[in-house]
Amino acid sequence: RLWSIIPAGGAGTRLWPLSRERRPKFLLDLTGSGRSLLQQTVDRLAPLVEGRVLVVTGADHADQVRADLPELGEQAVLVEPSRKDSMAAIGLAAAVVEAQDPDAVVGSFAADHVIADPDRFRACVQEAVVLAEQGHLVTIGITPTGPATGFGYIRVGAPLDVPGAPRGRAVAEFVEKPDLETARGYLSTGEFLWNAGMFVARASTLLDLLADRDPSFAQRLRDIAADPASLAEVWPSLPRIAIDHAVAEPAAAAGRVAVVPGDFAWDDVGDFASLTGVLPTDSSGLAILGDPARVHGEGSSGLVVAGTERDVVVLGMTDVVVVDTGEVLLVTTRERAQDVKGVIERLKDAG
Ligand code: GDD
Ligand code: MG
Repeated sequence: RLWSIIPAGGAGTRLWPLSRERRPKFLLDLTGSGRSLLQQTVDRLAPLVEGRVLVVTGADHADQVRADLPELGEQAVLVEPSRKDSMAAIGLAAAVVEAQDPDAVVGSFAADHVIADPDRFRACVQEAVVLAEQGHLVTIGITPTGPATGFGYIRVGAPLDVPGAPRGRAVAEFVEKPDLETARGYLSTGEFLWNAGMFVARASTLLDLLADRDPSFAQRLRDIAADPASLAEVWPSLPRIAIDHAVAEPAAAAGRVAVVPGDFAWDDVGDFASLTGVLPTDSSGLAILGDPARVHGEGSSGLVVAGTERDVVVLGMTDVVVVDTGEVLLVTTRERAQDVKGVIERLKDAG
């Protein structure tokens, strides 16, 4: 039995002003489908989990998450008292599942990714579940398209030959966010995949692997699951660490990690350049989010986010990024779009 765990935290500042602290990336409809990325994540997994879903989010977003997913019951949203990064969030949900369903397999899936082929995605997850039942921590691998430094890298090992999981391979090494030089070296070997940010394992396997590295962390998560009233008291003492460092790296070194190479189109939509790539474009190559009837982009390429009632006219601009949210109008180029992070800090300082 598969349970899906959806950690929904983090702000996604590189998509400012589209994403903001009170309107994080996972609550946005970034594909023009009418569904938020969080809703799409739940939709995509629904045929595999039959309602077994836990979303883990911060107190500041809990109401929005519940409103976004009204079909999920109250107990499907776990609210963390403070941000502790992905290990605590995912670990808490795994402990809650383990307490009520000791043999269950959990899959953790980021709330803010775009996946174009849900059928292929689910076929990969099904193979991952088969491998998880054999005791592996299973990752999904993505064929890298460049030396990105924002991803984990998986060195693919030997085929595992497990019936029901023909694509399953051992993982020889897991390296979270290497520097550029290292990433370039990895690419040149042809042996590496990107980590898609998904982890599938028995709930007990995941917590036992954490316990191998940090016994008291795993124990405290299990204590909270056994006595939910202790959450507020125990939570502040938990380490702030990503699951990639806390479990994936050490477990790979111990030979406990497997990978299913994904054959679906995947994007973590980390910035405006990748957002441009997941949106439909008009005849001249301008990607549009919002009502296309509002956007007049003659002879222009790039991205327009039309988030208000007013028309947006862009004439003869190459690789432009225009984001109109009503509160903020951002005009930049695709090349400079990553630099919004610095702007936010200056705006904050200015009050
Ligand atoms: N509830 C909660 N609380 N969720 C959190 C927290 C937290 O404190 N921190 C992170 N998350 C959630 C994010 O919302 C996301 O769904 C998931 O955990 C992963 O966290 P990110 O912060 O987005 O990680 P990343 O993108 O830097 O790196 C991860 O994903 C990459 C793929 O996009 C790693 O797994 C990389 O190895 C991977 O390549
Ligand atoms: Mg991410």
